[in-house]
Amino acid sequence: MLILGIETSCDETAAAVVQDGYKVLSNVVASQIKLHTPYGGVVPEIASRAHIENIIPVIQKALKDAKLKRRDIDAIAVTIGPGLITSLMIGVDTARALSYAWGKPILGVNHIEGHICSIKLKAQSVKLKNIKFPAICLTVSGGHTMLVLMRQWGNYEVIGETIDDACGEAFDKVAKILGLGYPGGPIIERWAYSGNKQAFSFPRPILDRDNFNFSFSGLKTAVLYEVQKIKNPQNPKILQGTLGIKKLNKKVVQDICASFQEAAFEVLATKTLRAAQKFNVSTIILTGGVAANQVLQDFLRKSLPVTDYQLLITEFSTDNAAMIAGAAYLRALKKDYDDWCNLQGESNLRF
Ligand code: KG4
Ligand code: ZN
Repeated sequence: MLILGIETSCDETAAAVVQDGYKVLSNVVASQIKLHTPYGGVVPEIASRAHIENIIPVIQKALKDAKLKRRDIDAIAVTIGPGLITSLMIGVDTARALSYAWGKPILGVNHIEGHICSIKLKAQSVKLKNIKFPAICLTVSGGHTMLVLMRQWGNYEVIGETIDDACGEAFDKVAKILGLGYPGGPIIERWAYSGNKQAFSFPRPILDRDNFNFSFSGLKTAVLYEVQKIKNPQNPKILQGTLGIKKLNKKVVQDICASFQEAAFEVLATKTLRAAQKFNVSTIILTGGVAANQVLQDFLRKSLPVTDYQLLITEFSTDNAAMIAGAAYLRALKKDYDDWCNLQGESNLRF
C-alpha cells in the first residue's frame, strides 16, 4: 500500500510517500522559516502564498525521491485540520485535484493523529506490533499541547490539553521576548544548554490542579516580567517592547532559557506521568515539534520508572507529510475513503 501524504496545516509545505503505514520512501519538507523569521511567528498570508508556490514541486520531488510514478500510488492522504485555514486549503484543494485527475482515492487526516502516528514511521522496518496498549501520547507542538489516551490505533480520547498557549508557542514567544529569533524551540534549547536551570524560579502553571490540562501563557508572561525587571528595575511592569533598550547579558539569557525550559518540561513530564498512572497504561509516546528537544526527552526518561513503561519518542517530530500518510494507512486498508468532491479543511478540527 503506497500512500502519498500532503501536509500544509501551518508553515511547512510537505509531501511524502509511505509504504504499508510505516516505511518512509520519501519525505520532502519545504520550510518557510526564512519568510516568517522577520515577524517572529507565522504570518498566515505569507504562509499560504508560499504553499501555492511550493506544493507542486514538493509533490513531484516526493514521487521522484521514492522512485515512483503517480500510477504507483494507491491513495492520497491530506491534512484537513486543525491548522491555519488559508494554509490547509492549499493542501486540501491540491489533493482533491490530484484525486480527481489521477483517479486515486483520497483520505482527510487529522493533523494531531498524524503526529501520534509519526511514532510508527521508520526508514527501516519497525517492530510496530510490539507497542503495548493502552498508551498515553503527549503531543507538544507550536499549535497543540495534548494528552491523548490511546486504546488502539485509531481509538483516541483527549484527556488534557492547553487552555491557552501551546508549549511550542510559548518557546517561540519567549525567544521573541529575548530577541533570539524564530522558531524559538531549538534556539532556546541551545541557549539553555550552558544556563543554570535554577537561576530563576518561574511558575509551574496549573501543576497542582486535578486535571490533565496545561497552561503556558502565564509562564511566558513571567519571563517577560523578569526581563523587564532586569532592564527597567524601577518599573518592571512597564513594557518597553520586546527587545527594550538595554541588551541582556549572555549569561542571563542562558539562565532564563534554562529556567524557562525546566519549568515547562516539569509540568509536561509530571502531568504525563500522572496520566500514565491514572489510566494504568503500558506505553508513553512523545510526539510533535517540541519532542525534538533532548532535555524534554531526558526529563521524561528520568521521571518515568523505566521498568513500568515503554517510552517511545518520535523520529519525525516537526511537521511532515510522512506522518499524514502513516495515519491514513488503516483507513486505506479498509477502503474507508473520503469523497474528493466534498473534502474540506477545518481549522478547529477535533478528534
Ligand atoms: O509540530 P510542529 O512542527 O508544528 C506544529 O504542529 O505546530 O512544531 C513546531 C514547534 C515550534 O513552536 C518550535 O519552536 C517547536 O516546535 N520546536 C521545539 C524544538 N524544535 C521545534 N521546541 C523545543 N525544543 C526544540 N528542539
Ligand atoms: Zn504539527
